[in-house]
Amino acid sequence: MLRAADEQPAIADDDPVRFLHDPIDYLMRVYRRHGAGVTNAPRRADFVFALGAESNYAIYSNPDLFVATGFLFPGPKNSAQRRLLSGIFNQNGDRHRDHRRAMMPTFQKTTVAAWRDAMAEVCETFFDDWRFGETRDMSAEMLALVVRLNARLLLGVSDVDLVSQLEKATDEWMALNTPLTVASSLSLDLPRSWYDAALASSERVESLTKQLLELRKAQPLAGDDLLGVLLRVQAADPSRITPLELVGQTAHMFAAANQSTRSSLIWTLFLLAQHPEVMAELHDELDGELHGAAPTLEQIERLPLLDRVYRESVRLFPPVSYYTRMCADATELCGRRLNKGTTVVFSHYVTHHMATTFADPQRFHPDRWLSANPTPYEYLPFGVGARTCIGITFAAQVGRIALATLLQRARLTIVPGTQVNRKVTTILSPRDPMPMRIDRPGRPYQSSIVGGDVHDMVHLPSTLAAAA
Ligand code: HEM
Repeated sequence: MLRAADEQPAIADDDPVRFLHDPIDYLMRVYRRHGAGVTNAPRRADFVFALGAESNYAIYSNPDLFVATGFLFPGPKNSAQRRLLSGIFNQNGDRHRDHRRAMMPTFQKTTVAAWRDAMAEVCETFFDDWRFGETRDMSAEMLALVVRLNARLLLGVSDVDLVSQLEKATDEWMALNTPLTVASSLSLDLPRSWYDAALASSERVESLTKQLLELRKAQPLAGDDLLGVLLRVQAADPSRITPLELVGQTAHMFAAANQSTRSSLIWTLFLLAQHPEVMAELHDELDGELHGAAPTLEQIERLPLLDRVYRESVRLFPPVSYYTRMCADATELCGRRLNKGTTVVFSHYVTHHMATTFADPQRFHPDRWLSANPTPYEYLPFGVGARTCIGITFAAQVGRIALATLLQRARLTIVPGTQVNRKVTTILSPRDPMPMRIDRPGRPYQSSIVGGDVHDMVHLPSTLAAAA
């Protein structure tokens, strides 16, 4: 028999404000206390945490019932914030399906495959600036690399400076919006200054996005880059993508593309730097197959350890750590009755850290992928179904080319004592700089003792050895 959502016990001593401050810690506590399934936020019938494969399946396979509401709070009428709701993360139904279709030329396999040489060139030129013996903040470096790649390929522009400004503005906008959206669903009051800051940042995002579109318009519109594709679709049929939606789609795509890809790269470098034996084995694989060059698409297929490392890294640190949906109608989820309008939080991070699917889930163990065979609802770094990541092929190819090129050119060692803490805006990133020393590649690879809440997320052998 179904129980009404408000009849079940709340999470007694867990103030949901903590969810705003540290969603990963909060969601893992909910999971440890209540297990997989649906649990209410304390004293709230219309805000639930749905954890595990069963709820992931229900949510992802019913996109018209569990609808997307995006990461933006609505903002006042006639504000930039309100106008920017017009992108893919807030779309549902036929409009969403049609806009996804319209953008597909950029993301299909053949388009992305044809960008292999450009991806390799951007990576090689970027790493040419690095010198042995220097220390760089790899978190900033990976973001700068992703911005260059995305500017050239996804956006079709060469003004990296403008793209970097938009990236900063978008990151700030997302960081302010995510807690505001969650707080409003939970009826929690946040300081007025947060709203004002979010509104101001939405104006910056809108203005820079318009500049970017003008810049792209000034060039020939041919090309498979996203802006070229969107502008052509609009020119052919202005009602299919309105001017408002053009700006909204561009801003949302931008928000989706940069931090997520950076997150996958920086956490992979972190994990490899902290697991010297895996790094040494990977170096042998790369050196043996590539002899210093960036991989071709055929060679990527012959780098099985790189594939396992990437998969394991986005399992442990899924760039999209959680997301939300809203019930468009009253429904049932994992045996619980949910009212229309209920906010549902689900989590890729928690799903990937379930020992019932992944033995010793906090351990970085790429070889688990020699036999692991999770369902698409147990392992879903890119989502699944109608709202699956549209950029999956692009992100996967960039990830492999960037990592294979970098790791043949440099041995990276984290500066000992670095504090590695998380920042979660739904995207899981390192909060602070991650300084790493760059040396000539090859043995000996060495891990370092680091501090911070990263130890909640992964068991590092260096720390275990130091404690023994
Ligand atoms: C490693 C990098 C990336 C990861 C792990 C990732 C992950 C995800 C996930 C989990 C979702 C589903 C969110 C949901 O449930 O609503 C998603 C959606 C999306 N991603 Fe990615 N993403 C990455 C890179 C990219 C890139 C490069 C783009 C290019 C623009 C992109 C564009 C999108 C878009 C537009 C959506 C929304 C799709 C929709 O709602 O129909 N992502 N991504």
